[in-house]
Amino acid sequence: MAWLMTFILLFCLSILRISALNIFPEKFKLAERGKSVTLTCRTDKDKITWRREDTNSIVNILQSNFEKPSGRDLTLIDLQEDLTGNYTCWSDTGLEDYTYLLLDKSKEATAFKINCTAETFSCTQKIKCAWTSNEFTAFRLRNTRDNGDWVSQSVDGVFFLPHSTNSYSEESERLLITGEAVSTCCYMKTDYSFFLRDIVKPADPGISICTIENEGSDEQTIELEVKPPSTWPQPHSFFPLKHEIEYEIRHNGELKTEERESSKIKLEGSITKLRVRCRDLLLLSQWSEWSKWKNVPKRKKRGCNKENKVEANSKPCKEKKNKQKNRQKNWKRLNWA
Ligand SMILES: *[C@@H]1O[C@H](CO)[C@@H](O)[C@H](O)[C@H]1NC(C)=O
Ligand SMILES: *[C@@H]1O[C@H](CO)[C@@H](O)[C@H](O)[C@H]1NC(C)=O
Repeated sequence: MAWLMTFILLFCLSILRISALNIFPEKFKLAERGKSVTLTCRTDKDKITWRREDTNSIVNILQSNFEKPSGRDLTLIDLQEDLTGNYTCWSDTGLEDYTYLLLDKSKEATAFKINCTAETFSCTQKIKCAWTSNEFTAFRLRNTRDNGDWVSQSVDGVFFLPHSTNSYSEESERLLITGEAVSTCCYMKTDYSFFLRDIVKPADPGISICTIENEGSDEQTIELEVKPPSTWPQPHSFFPLKHEIEYEIRHNGELKTEERESSKIKLEGSITKLRVRCRDLLLLSQWSEWSKWKNVPKRKKRGCNKENKVEANSKPCKEKKNKQKNRQKNWKRLNWA
């Protein structure tokens, strides 16, 4: 019976140890390099033995200079990579407890930065963060300020973190994002703190061409309207955007750029295609990505398309101006920008 159980256990262990740590161990203990650490087997049994499982081996722990079992405790002296791994404790009836011992490299590992952006000031959209390193195999982030849960990477390797920032008032408390990373031997933890307004990067805006006059000639004028990204907070006059427009001149293929504050833009000259990007006008946020190139149609077209009309109609104008002033006044930081 005992040999059968041992066989089954060894078989299971041999499957487990093939994989590197690509998820966080459910139970782990940390200690810094060179330090001693004591693991305690949670059991009511008096006679237990310890094993250490790492990527290459399963070791039965005996008394040594570095490994000192005593009762239900196991003290490890002068922790280095070779003493890390999954420690299991066993009684005559089988597995009693386990814990994964990791070397805490938070102080020694080369810092790799968490990099976050937000498409809007509003908490309707999650903050998007990137954090990765070759040294570690599993990563997780959490919004510590808002007491959030740990979040793992999505399939494309980015983290989406919820938050509770109110877009209509100035933030008073910085967000604090905590990151943890593990590999088979090691652990590291880092913090990243920022105001949401400092990481805002709007999604790319849309363009509608409203009218083209004198098309094809050098006196051609195009009127177009930039549509704010769908994730940008409303009302749009409270959160005004600045636009940069890039366009190609027909006769020489030259590219030109211009910055405009209005979403209604008039361009003169014969233009073949154009694209636009935006940023928060008051805080001078990061620029969005460029929109896709839009070809200027050959044939004359009057009026903006339907979507635009809907948007134009839903524009509350006067009220927005007042609110815009409020934002400038209320958000102290806006005055420095
Ligand atoms: C450590 O060992 C225990 C018991 O075999 C197992 O349940 C656990 O998944 C192991 N942890 C890791 C990270 O391999
Ligand atoms: C942050 O990530 C973006 C892409 O998501 C990249 O363009 C930018 O350079 C990164 N910034 C830093 C400081 O790593």
